[in-house]
Amino acid sequence: MSSIPSLQLNDGYHIPQFGLGTWKTPNEEAPALIRSALEMGYRHIDTAAAYNNEEGVGQGIAEAGIDRSELFVTTKLWNERQGFDETIKAFDESLAKLKLEYVDLYLIHWPCPQAGKFLDTWKAFLRLREEGRVRSVGVSNFRPSDLEEIILETGVTPAVNQIEVHPLLQQNEMREFNQKKGILTEAWSPLAQGGELLKNPLIQQIAQKHGKTPAQVILRWHIELGSIIFPKSTNPDRIRENADIFDFMLDGEDMSQIATLDAGKRLGPDPSTFG
Ligand code: A2P
Repeated sequence: MSSIPSLQLNDGYHIPQFGLGTWKTPNEEAPALIRSALEMGYRHIDTAAAYNNEEGVGQGIAEAGIDRSELFVTTKLWNERQGFDETIKAFDESLAKLKLEYVDLYLIHWPCPQAGKFLDTWKAFLRLREEGRVRSVGVSNFRPSDLEEIILETGVTPAVNQIEVHPLLQQNEMREFNQKKGILTEAWSPLAQGGELLKNPLIQQIAQKHGKTPAQVILRWHIELGSIIFPKSTNPDRIRENADIFDFMLDGEDMSQIATLDAGKRLGPDPSTFG
């Protein structure tokens, strides 16, 4: 695996721009998959309490025996655990399942604006950071107004905002907003969940031009945009394929062609109403 770039977060820590996602990875398959990804050179793992695989992910990390300081591990707080006290309890549970002393990045999974608890949740995140059990704090699926609120109330800007981004939902405005605030964008479902997009003739043509696969072209597109990605796969060959994107670049023409695929098409829930 060619070397994976690292990006600096607004709190000074560094994050590998590429890693392994684990949404829908079954807990029992996680140890072997994580072990083999770490053996291939992956150093960044993204999980969540809601994925029900933190134990398996933690087991894989422990079995791989890699120095903790070389790894970047993210997990996320699930919606129904929002609120100050509940957040601390939920975090304790996640950390115990992962069998870690700290996580590199902890995210509020969804803002759930109707519940009105994300500000208290954010304050608990800051407490966990003070305690040293979380290195960097961030959010997921936050809209500009949600971000403005927590920044205004606490003076702390999230290190990342993890949002749905792929060529069918390019999120130019949201990514630009994050950038202006000094927040790095993490793209979830970077491959548009592996569906029709991989068969798109334009993507296939660009793939042929570079001698790469459609998945590699889409992943490289995210890298060129400066987003952080962690495609999920439970197939070791695809896990290897997805990481092999650091020996080529897309040119301006490729980027403008992919820009035309934006259809504003969400595959996941709408953050305004979800939760
Ligand atoms: P699998 O786990 O069987 O490899 P996203 O990250 O956008 O949610 O996409 C994940 C989906 O894409 C999963 O269904 C995964 O299936 C599939 N996938 C991951 N990598 C590739 C690849 N290189 N080529 C084709 N499909 C892929």
